[in-house]
Amino acid sequence: MATRSIPLYHEQHRLHSKMAIRYYQTYRFATPSPISVLDVGCSTGNFLLEFATQYHEDSSLPQELKLVALDPSFEMCTKCADKLEGYDLEIAVKDASYLSEFSRQFEIINLSYVYQFVPIHKRAGIFADLYRATRSGGLVFFSQKFTHCDNSLPSSLIDSVVQGLYVDFRLGNGYTMQEIEAKTNALKNSMWLQNDTDFVGQLGAAGFRVYPLTRWLSFGSYVALKP
Ligand SMILES: C[S@@+](CC[C@H](N)C(=O)[O-])C[C@H]1O[C@@H](n2cnc3c(N)ncnc32)[C@H](O)[C@@H]1O
Repeated sequence: MATRSIPLYHEQHRLHSKMAIRYYQTYRFATPSPISVLDVGCSTGNFLLEFATQYHEDSSLPQELKLVALDPSFEMCTKCADKLEGYDLEIAVKDASYLSEFSRQFEIINLSYVYQFVPIHKRAGIFADLYRATRSGGLVFFSQKFTHCDNSLPSSLIDSVVQGLYVDFRLGNGYTMQEIEAKTNALKNSMWLQNDTDFVGQLGAAGFRVYPLTRWLSFGSYVALKP
């Protein structure tokens, strides 16, 4: 389902995995300690599976790989555990607030199309927790749907055209107009979009260096490096 409704869905997972591995091959593997990867809002585990598959293709990397996955949905956690059977995986039915339990633990953290579902009143402190959970030199991959609106009329005009193009994208992937409207209504009370400059600024304020990676209209991904 995600492939039909999220532009560049698999491409992002592939690209982010490749980038993380290349970064660690080049800069971080002077000390051969096991690498830890956390996926917040892991859903069915597609990112972790992609990362682990690519990682094990390189026999020069340390063989140990620690995977940790969180999702508030028990059903998603079960699917993720099934998909990653045989890997060293720790999985917990927890939401993003559970990030506060970790300290300097992960080389790589993935937050892919999750932050938009965190209720606004629960967002304060999440980026600080993310920063604390990341090891120095670690990378956070952050993919997000955002709005172009900045309270000005021109921005809302652009945003409505962009939303129309996104409807076309889903129609082109086999959804009907009724299905799209039903999904839009269902998300009204569970997804809260932000302007991209706002959350990029907030990641920066938490201490990360943030670099844009991919972009398709109102969908984008970033890598945030903890210096
Ligand atoms: C669009 S899916 C993205 C899944 C996954 N990151 C991927 O790229 O395939 C959103 C996921 O976020 C989870 N989620 C919703 N609210 C969350 C929260 N507050 N904290 C963590 N995960 C959340 C949902 O259960 C769902 O599995």
